[in-house]
Amino acid sequence: MLTNVNITIAKHAGACYGVNRALELTNEAISENDEVFTYGEIIHNPVVVENLRENGVRVIDKPREEGGCVVLRSHGVSPQIEEEIAKLSKVIDATCPFVKKAQVVAKKLGENHKQVIIVGEQGHPEVEALVSYAKLAGAEVFVVSKASDISNLDLFDVGILSQTTQSNEAFDSVAKRIAEKGVRHEIKNTICSATAMRQKSAIELAETVDVMIVLGGRNSANTTRLFDLCKRECDSTFHVERSSEFEELVCQIKEILEDRQSCVVNVGITAGASTPESQIEELREFLETNL
Ligand code: F3S
Repeated sequence: MLTNVNITIAKHAGACYGVNRALELTNEAISENDEVFTYGEIIHNPVVVENLRENGVRVIDKPREEGGCVVLRSHGVSPQIEEEIAKLSKVIDATCPFVKKAQVVAKKLGENHKQVIIVGEQGHPEVEALVSYAKLAGAEVFVVSKASDISNLDLFDVGILSQTTQSNEAFDSVAKRIAEKGVRHEIKNTICSATAMRQKSAIELAETVDVMIVLGGRNSANTTRLFDLCKRECDSTFHVERSSEFEELVCQIKEILEDRQSCVVNVGITAGASTPESQIEELREFLETNL
C-alpha cells in the first residue's frame, strides 16, 4: 500500500538548554583532560552515555581517589558529594542552572520552615540532591508525587517546591491540598519552563495526529511523563529510545494503518529534554524512508 505520511515535530521538543550545556561542558572536558568521568549519567539518555563511553568517558558513582576530571551531571549532586569530589579531582559543574536554582530554594525553604515537601520522583538524582539541601538546612523532608501522598503526613510548617521536570498539574494539586490544611506554608514552583513548554506542545500535537511518537531514554523522567500525557490524547502513542527500535515501530504503525484501512497517516514526534536534535532527525528520516 502506498502511504501518504505527514510528519510533524512538536514546536518545543528535544534537548533543552541544560542538556545542551552539559554536553558542551563534557565535550570541552574531553578535549582538555586526559581522564574524564561523569558523576552519574551526565543526562538520562542511554544513547548519549554510550557514545561518551566510546570517547573514553566513564560514569562513576562515588568520588575517586585517583583524580582526573569529574563532570557533575545535569541533575546535580548533594553538597556533601560535591565537596568530596572537589577534594580528589578537578570538578566541572554541569548542573543545569535551573536545577541549581531549585537547590537554592530547597536550602532556603529548609531554613525558613520545619518541614519541606518536594513534589517529585523518589530516588531521582535531582530529587536526592534537593532532599540533601533541605535536610542540611535543618528541615524534615518528604518526597511526594501526588496530593493523596500527603494525607497521612502531620504537617504544621511546610515549604513546598518541585523537581524541575514535574507537571504543573501534579505540583498545583499538592500545593492546593496543603493550602487547604490551613497550616503555615510557602509555595515555590521550581518547575522548569522547558518542561512545561514541551508538555504543552506535545499535548497539542498528540490531539491532532493518528500516531504519536515520544523519543528519549526510558530512564528519563521527563520523557516518560511526555509519553503519559500524549497517551491520554492519542491512543496510538509509542515510546522509542534508540534507532534499533525504529523498524519495529514502523511495523506497528503499518498495522494501525491496515486496521484502519487507511493510506494516510499523520505522525507526531516529540522528544524528552534529554534527547539531542540529531536523534530526532534520525527518526524523522527513518520514518520518511520506511513508512
Ligand atoms: Fe534544566 Fe529544565 Fe533542562 S531544569 S536540564 S533546562 S528541563
